[in-house]
Amino acid sequence: MTKATNITWHDSAITKEDRRAQNGHGSVVLWFTGLSGSGKSTIANAVSHELFRQGINEYVLDGDNVRHGLNKDLGFSEADRNENIRRIGEVAKLFVDSGKIVTTAFISPFRSDRETVRALFEEGEFIEVFIDCPLEECERRDPKQLYAKARRGEIKDFTGIDSPYEAPESPEITVRSDHYTVEEAVGQIVAHLREKNIL
Ligand code: ADX
Repeated sequence: MTKATNITWHDSAITKEDRRAQNGHGSVVLWFTGLSGSGKSTIANAVSHELFRQGINEYVLDGDNVRHGLNKDLGFSEADRNENIRRIGEVAKLFVDSGKIVTTAFISPFRSDRETVRALFEEGEFIEVFIDCPLEECERRDPKQLYAKARRGEIKDFTGIDSPYEAPESPEITVRSDHYTVEEAVGQIVAHLREKNIL
């Protein structure tokens, strides 16, 4: 028997709106940006737990994990960071299309990279969350002892030391992670999602 060729789907494709309607909530990307040690991953994962508890379809893309897989070919030069963020932006767009609330936790230090990602999305789908914490505090925390290594010159191009961090100019949400607890930060972000009728 010959295999069928020229197969056509008669049903129209399932849309993002169909998936949102089935889920009973909107789909957006919560794009966290901030220095290493600012608390991006911690807060992103706490938001994820809270949304999951509320029965929301959600997922977290985290820098340290994605760099072990999809982006393991990339380092920390400016060009590699551009490509890291470009790929994450495209993946985040697929997640939004799939009807989920996706949280991304990457330093994403360059304003132009974040704006390029924002442009991939429809109005209101890209929510920039600035995890604002002074460099001195991040360096004091130094959970992975990377600032100490960077100061000793053992790591090159370290964000905040010898590679720039460009803070967002008008993020949808700013969390001062040195002033508020993780629970308070989660409350602030979930309140924003409610205010925008995403939840
Ligand atoms: S980004 O700049 O391209 O957005 P990403 O968030 O993926 O960075 O990765 C940052 C993480 O990689 C940091 O939290 C840290 O653990 C690790 N890291 C290793 N080398 C560097 C470096 N030179 N600059 C910043 N982070 C680094």
